[in-house]
Parts: sequence; C-alpha cells; structure tokens
Amino acid sequence: MSAPNKSYDPVEVEALKPEQIERMRDEAVAAVAAASDLDELREVKAAHAGDRSPLALANREIAALPPHAKADAGKRVGQARGAVNKALAARQGELEAERDARVLVEEAVDVTLSYDRRPAGARHPMTTFADRIADVFTALGYRVAEGPEVETEWFNFDALNFPPDHPAREMQDTFFVRGADGGEDSGLVLRTHTSPVQIRSMIDSEPPLYVVCPGRVYRTDELDATHTPVFTQVELLAVDEGLTMADLKGTLDHMVGALFGEGMRTRLRPNFFPFTEPSAEMDMVCYVCRGESVGNPDRPCRTCSSEGWIELGGCGMVNPRVLTACGIDPDKYSGFAFGFGIERMLMFRHNIEDMRDIVEGDVRFTLPFGMEI
Ligand code: PHE
Repeated sequence: MSAPNKSYDPVEVEALKPEQIERMRDEAVAAVAAASDLDELREVKAAHAGDRSPLALANREIAALPPHAKADAGKRVGQARGAVNKALAARQGELEAERDARVLVEEAVDVTLSYDRRPAGARHPMTTFADRIADVFTALGYRVAEGPEVETEWFNFDALNFPPDHPAREMQDTFFVRGADGGEDSGLVLRTHTSPVQIRSMIDSEPPLYVVCPGRVYRTDELDATHTPVFTQVELLAVDEGLTMADLKGTLDHMVGALFGEGMRTRLRPNFFPFTEPSAEMDMVCYVCRGESVGNPDRPCRTCSSEGWIELGGCGMVNPRVLTACGIDPDKYSGFAFGFGIERMLMFRHNIEDMRDIVEGDVRFTLPFGMEI
C-alpha cells in the first residue's frame, strides 16, 4: 500500500488509474471466459477475485486516499469487482450444467448389457399366503393335512353326504377324469373343494382332531378377472367333545383378526351344505372401509360395493351323518368346519384387480411381494 499522501490526485496512483482498473477487469473477465472446466474456474477465481488479486490490492489502496477522493475510486473498483463476480457466477452456472449433462451421458446405465438370467427365485404370493393362514392355525395346535388333487367321487361327494343327483356333481362344475381305459366313469374327479380332506382326516385319525388343509381345487369356470378354473382353498376341521357354533365363530374371528388386524370380525348367514348342519355363509367386515361405506354415498367402497361385508366361504357344524360315515360317534363328538377360497382374499388384501395376474406367473407381478423364500 502506498504511504498516505494528502496532496495527490487519486487518478495519479498507478493501481487506481481508470485504465488500469478497466484492464484488470477485462483481464479477469477474459480469464473467466477462457476457463474450460470447474477446476480451472476455481484457479481463475483465486487469481482475479481472491484476496491477492490485482483488484483486491487496488481496493486496499483506496484506504490511503484523502477522504474526498475515496468515493470516486471506491465506486470504480467496486464496479469492476462486481463485473468480475458476475462473470464468475455466470461461468460457474454454465460449467456446472455442462458437467451435469456429461455425467448423465458418461454414467448412463447400459440396459442392453447382459444380466443374470437366473435370479434367485421367490415363492408365489399365493403360496406364502396359504402358509401364513396355516401358521395361524398351527399356532392354535392344528396340524396341516393334505389330500390328492385327483380325488375319488366318493371322497369328493358321497362321503360328504351329497346326494347322487346334487347339482354340484354336474358336468358344468366338475372336471371328470377319464379312466385308464378311456372310459368316462372312472369314479375320479379333480377335487372341487378341499372338504374331502376332512373325510380322509376323520378316517385316518381318532378325535380329538384339529386339522387345516390348504390346497388346489378345480371347477369348470372360465378364466377371467374374477374366476379361475384352478384356485386355492383352505379348509378347517375340528372334531372334539362339546364343540359348538360358538367355537366355530370364535375361531373365525381369531383368523380374520390374525390375518387382517385386530378388530376384524365375521358374521354368519344361514346357508346349506350337505356335509354341515347347521350351515352358514361367512362374511368378514370389509378390510378396506370397515363398514363405514354403508349408507354413506360420500365414501363408496369398491372392495365391498359399499356392503360393509365381504363373503369368504362356507362353514357349519359337521353333519352327524358324515361323522357316522367316518366311524365317529356323533353322540360323543361334534365338529365344525369351514372352507374358503383364498385368491379373492389375497386380491382385496393387496388391491389386486385381476385374478389372472395371480395365476399367470409373470414375475413382474410376484416380485413386489418380496423375495420370501
Ligand atoms: N366346501 C365348501 C365349498 O367349497 C365350503 C365349506 C367347507 C362349507 C366346510 C362348509 C364347511 O363351497
């Protein structure tokens, strides 16, 4: 810094001459424009706008000026520094945008690269859901029982007290299996429900009997958004001394609470099945609206069509004729059973709109359910 000098004209100080200041500004702005990347720009900034840059040094000279000269010199230096800072900021923006665009190109993922064609498999959501339901009951002391999918008509119908002319036996519901000789009356069907596993369990074991039977069943339905000819049922059977409808109702309520959350309930509506007496249709409170859509046009519910309830399946007390056919004394023992399809349950539990997504096996559908193996 020059020594204080009371007499000179500030324009006489070398560093503060207007041409000098213009030159410093122009050199700085040119250097900024020439910076070709952010690193270079950082150096330019230190050289032309840093503490030791010509303009910063010139700024310090101002302090030595007589008071009347300070304003004029300060304005000139200030404007020059402002211009340099503005140029720096503009170039910084341009170079950052260039870098971002380059990163997008250079670091782009090549989606045509080969990938692992054998990713680790995941279990189908139907399988995990059926297991989860079975877990609810094994935790209560039930055991899992299974039966064949190609079943005899006797187990599928006769032992369950279906009369020979029952409509469920007719061709439109049941897949009949040809015999080895090609004959039509092989006595075999693809089981239309899991209830024959009730019979097999009662014949195989003495009461007390508590079994849960998940499994695939078949009916001659067309595949569409709400039907599939192959679907999954879970059957429950309990045979013991003193079982009543209250035990059935409590068990159903426990199940829906365990699967859908505390406070979920079921209701029973009278129905008919040949193998239970009395029989009921069971509904559960709508999982989505919890009944609040009923009579409330402002809050319609698609899941239950604003009914407040969702139909799950059938249930009842095991018909004494069935107990007798299985060698169980109906005066000593009573039993309850229920059975329901679980595709529909999975659908409303996960907002699945089309049943075909469940059966078609596209991994884009199954992957979001996670990789539970
Ligand atoms: N098997 C019956 C059906 O598929 C359901 C059911 C099971 C009804 C057990 C009562 C008792 O429709």
